[in-house]
Amino acid sequence: MKFDAVIFDLDGVLVHTDKFHYLAWKSIADDLGVYFDETINTRLRGVGRMDSLNILLECCDRPLSDAEKEGLAAVKNERYRRYLSLMTPADVTDEVRTGLSRIRAAGIKTAIGSVSKNAGYILEKTDLVKYIDAVSDGNNIVNSKPDPEVFLKAAGFLGIAPSRAAVVEDAVAGIEAAVRGGFFAIAVGDARNHPKADFKAQSFTEIINLALY
Ligand code: BG6
Ligand code: MG
Repeated sequence: MKFDAVIFDLDGVLVHTDKFHYLAWKSIADDLGVYFDETINTRLRGVGRMDSLNILLECCDRPLSDAEKEGLAAVKNERYRRYLSLMTPADVTDEVRTGLSRIRAAGIKTAIGSVSKNAGYILEKTDLVKYIDAVSDGNNIVNSKPDPEVFLKAAGFLGIAPSRAAVVEDAVAGIEAAVRGGFFAIAVGDARNHPKADFKAQSFTEIINLALY
């Protein structure tokens, strides 16, 4: 067994809620008449809600007050949660469920390290709760990724040193956070282009086998 724990980012790693984030932000951009596309959306991965809005507003030529921004972030979250409310256990692949079961059966702890404040809701809707030993999310942190806080808290909840844990991430900011925190950084999706990733995974099963053997 290579690690004592594996900390998983949620959006884009265990579930594909990233498409719902995109649709909700796109509707806000359209309301504002601001240009927004999938490429800009990639920059929002692993970034907190208000920081994401600030990135979206880079293309807005009129300055917005803090109150307006709070309002827009709240509307985005309502729209995003409407998509989340339709999620079911079928939104998690068998590969992910089997993989999580396999590492836990081998005595490896699992945690979530996500800056989302909706992580608990997603875990409940998809019935992932039973595979996870600890959840560190947007509700227990001050600093968003690339700050390592969310992963350090997850390791702390598990009582495991960062040097004994791996982090699985699809966001560039997440790989940066994992490396800064002293974790073994496993990249999936776009994050595989990050030069600091310790391992670039082609599939979820590959991550599980790496953790086990
Ligand atoms: C991260 C997503 O998991 O959560 C980001 O990658 C998102 O795109 C962030 O902005 C915050 O999510 P939420 O659910 O608290 O708005
Ligand atoms: Mg992610």
